Amino acid sequence: MDINKLPLHVGIIMDGNGRWAKKRLMPRSLGHKSGMNTMIRLAEHAQKLGIKYLTVYALSTENLSRPKDELDGLFGLFRDYFTENIKKLYKSNSRVKVIGDLSALPEDIQKLLIDGEKDSPADAQFTLVFAINYGSRAEIVNAVNAAVEKGEKVDEGKFSSLLYTSGLPDPDLIIRTGGELRLSNFLLYQSAYAELYFTDVLFPDFSAKEFDKALKAYAGRTRRFGKI
Ligand code: IPE
Ligand code: IPE
Ligand code: MG
Repeated sequence: MDINKLPLHVGIIMDGNGRWAKKRLMPRSLGHKSGMNTMIRLAEHAQKLGIKYLTVYALSTENLSRPKDELDGLFGLFRDYFTENIKKLYKSNSRVKVIGDLSALPEDIQKLLIDGEKDSPADAQFTLVFAINYGSRAEIVNAVNAAVEKGEKVDEGKFSSLLYTSGLPDPDLIIRTGGELRLSNFLLYQSAYAELYFTDVLFPDFSAKEFDKALKAYAGRTRRFGKI
């Protein structure tokens, strides 16, 4: 892989867990469980390649209105990740960051997510960003209100610093698995110049090899940023 053509920041819309389970006559929750394992493997892979930021869309603001049993299953997976798997991530000198409106989540999860960030190594080489109860529209409205409360006009840099993603570089590449061709309220402001990659592969089946295909497609793109 040409290191010069490696994205600094990759975002993944991890879609297709439910359909993956349905195809196997399994409950949707098992699709989410399998998706979580895929996500863990991809984070390790991305880190090894030298990608510095991976943002995973784990729960949208709109997903919060799914049936309670599905949400409970997802919350259980977040609990598992932030109590167990996270230790391995720390050991590899990586940190987690969480973006989204945490206030609507069960209190024990809010605490786990906040502690997960706080306990992260200070000199981390890799950042895994979890988008949980995340929605770009809510994020932007939030930032506008913060600016209004301060009574200050903002420029683009200042506005970025009021978003949940403050301090993170904009994503270079956004991948969506599961066949849908839309962004579903993910990083709308930040992805102004991101390259987009869509695949029909359902997220649990999105292997390191599939991830590499997306990187290869990215490496073949010409990013002009409006110039000639
Ligand atoms: C994405 O998979 C994960 C979450 C939204 C939590 P889905 O649950 O949307 O899976 P499909 O789209 O129904 O297959
Ligand atoms: C997007 O998937 C959200 C996540 C992957 C977390 P959805 O399944 O919720 O998106 P839509 O409803 O198909 O747009
Ligand atoms: Mg979906």
